[in-house]
Amino acid sequence: MDHRTLAITGATSGIGKATAEALAADFDEIILLARNVVKAQLLKKELRSGKPGLKVSVVECNLASLASVEKAALHIQDNYGKIDCLINNAGVVSLSRQDTADGYELMMGTNYLGHYLLTHYMMPALLNGREPQIVIVSSNAYGLTTLKSDYFKGKGNPMQLYGRSKLATLYFMQELHEQFSGEGLRTTAVHPGAVTTNLGRTQQNEKLGNIIYGTLKPFFLSPSEGAESTVLAVRDKEKYDGMYMHAGKEIKLKPHGRSYYARKRLIADTIYELYLDEFMER
Ligand SMILES: NC(=O)c1ccc[n+]([C@@H]2O[C@H](COP(=O)([O-])OP(=O)(O)OC[C@H]3O[C@@H](n4cnc5c(N)ncnc54)[C@H](OP(=O)(O)O)[C@@H]3O)[C@@H](O)[C@H]2O)c1
Repeated sequence: MDHRTLAITGATSGIGKATAEALAADFDEIILLARNVVKAQLLKKELRSGKPGLKVSVVECNLASLASVEKAALHIQDNYGKIDCLINNAGVVSLSRQDTADGYELMMGTNYLGHYLLTHYMMPALLNGREPQIVIVSSNAYGLTTLKSDYFKGKGNPMQLYGRSKLATLYFMQELHEQFSGEGLRTTAVHPGAVTTNLGRTQQNEKLGNIIYGTLKPFFLSPSEGAESTVLAVRDKEKYDGMYMHAGKEIKLKPHGRSYYARKRLIADTIYELYLDEFMER
């Protein structure tokens, strides 16, 4: 039997944690790409107590630092000949203006650029799998904005900046699908729904966050409900290939979310910005 390996970002909290817990049944090995290795080690213990035969590895990966992403990805290249599924799940919402270690606006730098570089370096291991797959956790917040100029470092209100980072992940999904479906890669982007998690919470706004999430709780999904779209995408990769999906149903992207030229410009700018030679390593 084929040894199946899943790599996932952002599994130390919320939707990603629930996703890893649900998908432990489907894989022989899970690689937790995490900025907080202490939290990831606790999750490793939990996952292994639920399924003793499961192999779980923790790899430090701070998506807000290109050096950290590169180190994590090179570790994976050196130690794993094949990865079957990559879930780009981690995400950040920042209500105040913050930059990554490399000077990018934090949400664009983490949600899009960090994941782009990680995927770039993991592509050879993914293409070695028999039925490789990438799932991208995006958000309907993409609809809040278009990609305006200076989108890696520019200013804006927090929801627009978040929306812009998620729009970039949707273009990324479409580009991966266009360029790699012929090589057997299945790619899906999902919207998890409105989910009670730690997203957007900080020590400073914890009280307010608790009040907001508490008040809206009846309208919000639990983390395991929020993980359902990702889990469905992994379990039926052919059905959802090339799709932006929520709860098993395709979400028709607004025209700007399907813009060919905005997508091509973003990808070209990303390759230039990250000093890469081409779209993804083969
Ligand atoms: N919650 C919602 O209603 C909702 C709606 C639409 C889309 N989403 C998307 O769903 C995904 C999961 O979010 P969530 O709601 O589960 O939020 P969450 O509970 O805050 O979890 C976010 C995860 O991302 C990790 N992360 C954040 N910054 C990182 C960085 N620089 N490097 C590496 N990992 C980092 C966090 O690590 P730590 O544990 O170290 O903090 C955590 O594991 C995100 O992509 C989010 O945009 C959520």
